[in-house]
Amino acid sequence: MFKILVSDPMAEAGLAILRRGAATDLRVGLPADELRRVLPDYDALIVRSETKVTAEILAAGARLRVVTRAGVGTDNIDVAAATERGVLVLNTPGPNTIAAAEHALALTLALLRHIPRADASLRAGRWERKAFVGRELHRKTLGILGLGRIGREVAIRARAFGAELLVYDPFVPPAAAEAVGARALPLDDVLARADIVTLHLPLLPETRGLLGARELARMKPGAYLVNCARGGIVDEDALADALHGGQLAGAALDVFAQEPLTASPLFDLPNTVLTPHLAASSEEAQLGVGIVAAESTLAALRGELVENAVNLPGLAPGALAALHPWLDLAGQLGQLLAATLDGPARELEIGFQGDSAAINSALVGAAALRGFLAAAVGEQVTLITARVVAERRGLAVGERFVRGGRDAAPPAPGLRVAAAAPAGAADGHEHTVAGALDEAGRGRIVAIDGFPVALDAGGRLLLVAHRDQPGRIGAVGTLLGQRGINIAAMQVGRSRVRGDAVMIVTLDDPLPRPVLEEMRAITGLSHAHYVDLGAPPPNGAASEPRDEE
Ligand code: NAD
Ligand code: MLT
Repeated sequence: MFKILVSDPMAEAGLAILRRGAATDLRVGLPADELRRVLPDYDALIVRSETKVTAEILAAGARLRVVTRAGVGTDNIDVAAATERGVLVLNTPGPNTIAAAEHALALTLALLRHIPRADASLRAGRWERKAFVGRELHRKTLGILGLGRIGREVAIRARAFGAELLVYDPFVPPAAAEAVGARALPLDDVLARADIVTLHLPLLPETRGLLGARELARMKPGAYLVNCARGGIVDEDALADALHGGQLAGAALDVFAQEPLTASPLFDLPNTVLTPHLAASSEEAQLGVGIVAAESTLAALRGELVENAVNLPGLAPGALAALHPWLDLAGQLGQLLAATLDGPARELEIGFQGDSAAINSALVGAAALRGFLAAAVGEQVTLITARVVAERRGLAVGERFVRGGRDAAPPAPGLRVAAAAPAGAADGHEHTVAGALDEAGRGRIVAIDGFPVALDAGGRLLLVAHRDQPGRIGAVGTLLGQRGINIAAMQVGRSRVRGDAVMIVTLDDPLPRPVLEEMRAITGLSHAHYVDLGAPPPNGAASEPRDEE
């Protein structure tokens, strides 16, 4: 049974799901050394933002397969170190989007209308109406930095308040801004024009300190700043100075560079509204996050591919079912190609033909690479580690997209995987395999080394390169028959009559190594290779033992 450690608070509904599928321990607030001490027992770790999953913590997780962030931001997890170790990192985007968007607007309104201070004043026995005259969101310009899930929901709601919307997000097309009634502008323009700037982007090396003294000085005098995204994006000392000096009228923050925050120059300023990282803390959001975190962690441990994986190429929601046959086929083509090489490869090229958008080239490419590496180097490789392992082994991996010419009809979707051997190697040729899905969605091998074939992708395959001459096919068949190996099907591809040819024999029985050696001794055969594609690599990235290199 799997063992899961939950080291930050989690909704009871999520814990109940986990307990049905795994031995689950909830241990909140573990110091880092205690976490390191207990982690070797666990297959998965589930955290919110409090637990810092550093490279040292990950190194202690001898059997750790999955780290799940019950929430969006993974900046408290060393994702690169997890990837290097083959640990799948999941998050749960979606269930807390509305909570975060509503909190950003709640802070905005609280700030504009002085609600916390008015409340405190009234409780202190005062009735001060003049001191707390506020401002409206209506007809103000709201600058949204980061137009992702939360930024969009903020935009939709702010529109209902009658705000004008500006957006800065270099990674979304201007049409995405227009779709929510906003105008996309460069950062400095948004800062210069907005009455209120609200942040909804991730903390990354590029966004750390994005709003420092220079950018705060660029903001419209008397503007407001709201940060419900991540501490560290705003320089808090520079913000305190801008508020103190009157450049900004106010700021509302839910997130801080240091959490928990116990002291800050912002505490002494009247024009701030501060909450302790509460944006996602609605009952609804935590229920949703807990359920998604629990279900996806268990699915990943069972070896299923999940959509909310952070260190796997992104998957659109619902795209998985259509992708599975491509992943299987890519893995089989990779395996098949590796089996046809007589030495190590220097380069691998994964070619996508036709509408590769439907294929998810990054993930399917990783599956082809995994199949290729797993067979060729006998090392445990996962979809997560495939590119890292290839790089470590000096294998250059390229991708090529063929969409068809301007006048030609686009080719049917397909995959071509080609490997080139190092210059000067005995087998210095390029070898290729190509495949596609049939109408029923089954994987088919359609070419080997440029020879057209029509084979189901799977089963035990004997591949023989030979000269097209009488007697060759018979010699192979006779040897197999003498050794009690049953032939299920056979196909022959040739360049021309009596030219180079390949023979692909599908076998019912495994081909022992000594029989393969006997086959190689048959005159007129240049190569004979055997591969068992019957058990394609499973799609689940986390189901396999990790690369312990
Ligand atoms: P998302 O990934 O859907 O959206 C992030 C957007 O930021 C994307 O559109 C991306 O293109 C954009 N972006 C990335 N780098 C950028 C840059 N340099 N400049 C401008 N835009 C950039 O994420 P989301 O779910 O909308 O979450 C947004 C942020 O809110 C994240 O930091 C997340 O961790 C945080 N969050 C905080 C809380 C909380 O409790 N305070 C709750 C949920 C999410
Ligand atoms: C998130 O990124 O989802 C938030 O930080 C919410 C949380 O605290 O989990």
